[in-house]
Amino acid sequence: CGIVGYIGFREAYPIVIKGLKRLEYRGYDSAGVMLFDGNDLKVSKTKGKVSDLEEKSKEISQSGTIGMGHTRWATHGVPNDINSHPHLSNSENLAIIHNGIIENYEPLKKELIKRGYVFKSDTDTEVLVNLIEEVKKKENLKLGKAVQVALNQVIGAYAICVFDKQKPDEIVVARLGSPLAIGVGKDEFFIASDASPFIEYTSNAIYLEDEEMAIVRLHKPLKIRKIKDDTIVDPYIQELQMNLEQIEKGGYDHFMLKEIYEQPNVIKDTYRGRLLANEGIIKMAGIEDNLEKFLNADRILIVACGTSWHAGLVAEYIIEEFTRIPVEVEYASEFRYRNPIINKNDIVIAISQSGETADTLAAIKLAKENGAFVFGVCNVVGSSISRETHAGAYTHAGPEIGVASTKAFTTQITVLTMIALRLAKAKGTLSNSDFHRHLQELEIIPEKVQEALEMTNEVAKTIAAKFKDSQNCLYLGRGYNFPVALEGALKLKEISYIHAEGYPAAEMKHGPIALIDEQMPVVVIAPKQGHYDKVVSNIQEIKSRSGKIIAIVTKGDTQVRDLADYVIEIPDTSDALSPLLTTIPLQLLSYHIAVMRDCNVDQPRNLAKSVTVE
Ligand code: G6P
Repeated sequence: CGIVGYIGFREAYPIVIKGLKRLEYRGYDSAGVMLFDGNDLKVSKTKGKVSDLEEKSKEISQSGTIGMGHTRWATHGVPNDINSHPHLSNSENLAIIHNGIIENYEPLKKELIKRGYVFKSDTDTEVLVNLIEEVKKKENLKLGKAVQVALNQVIGAYAICVFDKQKPDEIVVARLGSPLAIGVGKDEFFIASDASPFIEYTSNAIYLEDEEMAIVRLHKPLKIRKIKDDTIVDPYIQELQMNLEQIEKGGYDHFMLKEIYEQPNVIKDTYRGRLLANEGIIKMAGIEDNLEKFLNADRILIVACGTSWHAGLVAEYIIEEFTRIPVEVEYASEFRYRNPIINKNDIVIAISQSGETADTLAAIKLAKENGAFVFGVCNVVGSSISRETHAGAYTHAGPEIGVASTKAFTTQITVLTMIALRLAKAKGTLSNSDFHRHLQELEIIPEKVQEALEMTNEVAKTIAAKFKDSQNCLYLGRGYNFPVALEGALKLKEISYIHAEGYPAAEMKHGPIALIDEQMPVVVIAPKQGHYDKVVSNIQEIKSRSGKIIAIVTKGDTQVRDLADYVIEIPDTSDALSPLLTTIPLQLLSYHIAVMRDCNVDQPRNLAKSVTVE
């Protein structure tokens, strides 16, 4: 979910609505707004997107210099008008917006019902606002204190904003597990899940830490305290790096397409200052500072979710090949709950674009408790995961807004490849010439990615037109490109809702081959480097079952061209770096298919960009 709040001298409504639109990537099944104009507290909410809310909120007067808004990704209760936030307490004095889950809401709700509270929605959030009201009334507390007492009774995760109409010069905010930033302006404050909603108003931001709350009061310095023991915390104001241009579409139809096209630049941004191919230098502060630990590691465990997990799989192949350090890759959600074996000499690498994914965060905490050294690969500076890890290396992809991840994936691979190369150099596991060859190849990969974009976009579009009505699609690859097949299938599923499966090409014969008929498009990743001949054999197997073959091949390939129904050519590169190129046409193919199917490319149904609930 995404939350936005404003308290100051401007009209709050346009700030909240614009902010919600920027946060819509965090969830978009319902939205709501609350405004206070000095007398009345007005609420409008609806199932649907922020644009639906704009329509719906014409029913209320939109004036007021205090406001908050919410865009939801449902956890408790279906997306409908009533379950949308803000929620009001029974007295209708308190309003709350909440991102997260209150796990013990049921006993709390029962208790409140016993005390005469009535609930309109099925949400855990309405329980929380009434709990605050109850505490406030019973113990005769001020809002801030009541929020604090209530939160100490709550188990779960939250970022909340609470407003009390009887105390209309303040908003109380708190966080545990879900992100919350406060923008500090002159005589005004902004509150949001990330800084994007207030970037044009102030570049001063405070990121609340877990278990912290703040009373955001007009004309008063900000007060932050620990929810548990009431200790006062000095606010740490950060200067924001983001700019407005980065979070706008810049002429592209969709954020996803913009982000696909940004890849040559952001890959370069990611290695800039870290890779000097001619000098044979590769360095990243987070690795240099902890080189001994890496060199002594018995094993590297990679934890991640979604696309980041696929980047982890690519990294497994690269790190093992280059460094001979054993690597295991796990879904963070599985790892955290299965009592995994973690030893002191294990290094855990957590990969996350947002740096906020709840399962990945929990996996990190578990690894730390077990004495492992945890290294983060995140895109969002200052995110929870970047703070929770012992060390790390940022990807420099810039804000990724499209829910389906593209540039985050390729920059993650870039960072992980650099880590592998740095360790290989220190361990001497690559020959000098191989090491230099890889460095050179990585340095020119942005140009090749650019070339791949130019070479593949139109072809991908033509192929998309042919297959846009397919029901299923199979993606096959081997070696470094097996994870790319998984990622290609995920992209198609996410944004076009076509069922797709990624498989190791050779494993096809143990099951998926049964699906192949003349209707079935099969995307085969078959670059010249790697297990080319083996993949060609797999293509033969598909062909003899009349499957429709779409092959990703190296420029100039003739053998596969003769067999495949469609080919998409990409530039030549090394086997290890080929995922950075093979993934490009797969991103474009999904994109064009989704556009042709009239799907909401940037905000696919049911998904959210940053999943801060488990
Ligand atoms: C969500 C997004 C995916 C993303 C995954 C992990 O499911 O929709 O695109 O790969 O979370 O996110 P992270 O921010 O941890 O990389």
